[in-house]
Amino acid sequence: HGNDVLNRTSFHFQPHRNWINDPNAPMYYKGFYHMFYQHNNLAPKFSNIMIWGHSVSQDMVNWIQLEPAFVPTESYDRHSCWSGSATILPDGKPVILYTGLEEHKELDRRQVTVLAEPKDASDPLLREWVKPKNNPVMLPPHDVPHDCFRDPTTGWQGQDGVWRVLVGAKEINTERGMAVLYRSDDFVEWTKYPTPLLAKEHTGMWECPDFFPVAITGKEGVENSVNNASVKHVLKVSFGGHDCYVIGKYSSENEDFVADSEFTNTTSDLRYDHGTFYASKAFFDNVKNRRINFGWVVETDSEEDDFEKGWSGLLSLPREMWLDTSGKRLIQWPIEEINYLRTKQVSLDNTHLSGCSNLEISGITAAQADVEVTFDLPILEGNPQVLDSDQVDDAVLFDRGSSAGCVYGPFGLLALASSDLSEQTAIFFKIIRRGNGYSVIMGSDEKKSSLRDNTKKSAHGTVLDIDPRHEKISLRCLIDHSVIESYGAGGRNVITSRAYPKLAIGEAAKLYVFNDGTRGVTISSLDAWSMRNAEVNLNAL
Ligand code: FRU
Repeated sequence: HGNDVLNRTSFHFQPHRNWINDPNAPMYYKGFYHMFYQHNNLAPKFSNIMIWGHSVSQDMVNWIQLEPAFVPTESYDRHSCWSGSATILPDGKPVILYTGLEEHKELDRRQVTVLAEPKDASDPLLREWVKPKNNPVMLPPHDVPHDCFRDPTTGWQGQDGVWRVLVGAKEINTERGMAVLYRSDDFVEWTKYPTPLLAKEHTGMWECPDFFPVAITGKEGVENSVNNASVKHVLKVSFGGHDCYVIGKYSSENEDFVADSEFTNTTSDLRYDHGTFYASKAFFDNVKNRRINFGWVVETDSEEDDFEKGWSGLLSLPREMWLDTSGKRLIQWPIEEINYLRTKQVSLDNTHLSGCSNLEISGITAAQADVEVTFDLPILEGNPQVLDSDQVDDAVLFDRGSSAGCVYGPFGLLALASSDLSEQTAIFFKIIRRGNGYSVIMGSDEKKSSLRDNTKKSAHGTVLDIDPRHEKISLRCLIDHSVIESYGAGGRNVITSRAYPKLAIGEAAKLYVFNDGTRGVTISSLDAWSMRNAEVNLNAL
């Protein structure tokens, strides 16, 4: 089998082969970006001996795979080395905190926090790590089950110079998710703070917490310990299959985080991504002063297929993150280095797309492409009252097949399409009349993504955060064989989809702009590029 047949990606992060889940401890050190990740290096499935894979890069696009950084060697990590984070200490040396699954007589696979240091901090590749004697450095507190205590964050220093980290947890006998706070003077000896930084009933176990400051104005990222009037803080936690976040004000003096909203464990939570995306981790890149986030994109085909492919899982593109001018959400956008892969370009402008029509965008490798398109809707004011969207539930709103309540659409892109359109993944918009205004629905519909029936095909959707009366509707899709990352409205909403086409592979894959609505829309501009292959972990050491 060639790569195309097996839908392997060409510019997304994947290990050389076998299984990957969470990104761990991304950091920049002495000229190299480091990515660690949850890895089973023996098979394309999750295992009970998880290790830390390790790759390095100078641009976060091309990666070299090194030997694993952590494998079980001690009783406290005998059953796995699970997720964790890196912190660069004031003397410039990195340290890592990760989750050890302990060999324990009564408490099977108790989750503990392990501290690790580079063996030789002068090695920019940080190839060897040591686990000092005083490990483990944290044990599950009495009100937390022994298997619900994991994924320590990057540390930050309060105004008092004391270090803080969060550990994901759940309260014993309840579904109250918690971000447990620990403090330390030396990063070695840790004391639990009496109350969690945040907790919420009915959310379940909080995995992979992430906590960092964001500038209130501008796109620049800030280092983890920065805290003043010009920043707010983001707390992200992974639960219920999504990476959800709240924005708020953190005070190290009062040791409290006052969030502007609450986690609800419903679709109204703020999400990094409305598709297939989980357990993400952000870091501050001091080379370009930006905050960058990576997430895990899971496979949605069968385990049998994963064995045939020889791999399972990938990471999202590195996404720059900053606070929207509204202060109410984060914006995400692929880092500029991704654009270096752009090659052959085709463009369109001011093109009318009438109702019920398709337009093929030819001339690029549609299975491996970057597409930016902007739609303009000629008249919105004075529309006759159509069905009020408040009478329609989410399932219908987000369904591409339904035009109930639509003023415009569904319209958008058909990615990874076969020439007979029997395979297609639609990334679409619909304009719905709502109250006195209009809402834009953004969706990514995998229902027709493959003729194969042993893959999970979902329809993902959300309300796009724009007012279509004042703004054009923009979309950027990065299409990479079996993954499509879609950024709506300049990155205000993001949806990642998986697709495993049978026909729409390699040169046979096509790209279309489509309009299923009855009214025409205008493509104000469209630019599409073929993407070159990145060199991602081609040769494993
Ligand atoms: C999230 C997670 C983490 C854990 C790791 C194990 O996907 O379950 O909570 O540390 O994966 O691989």
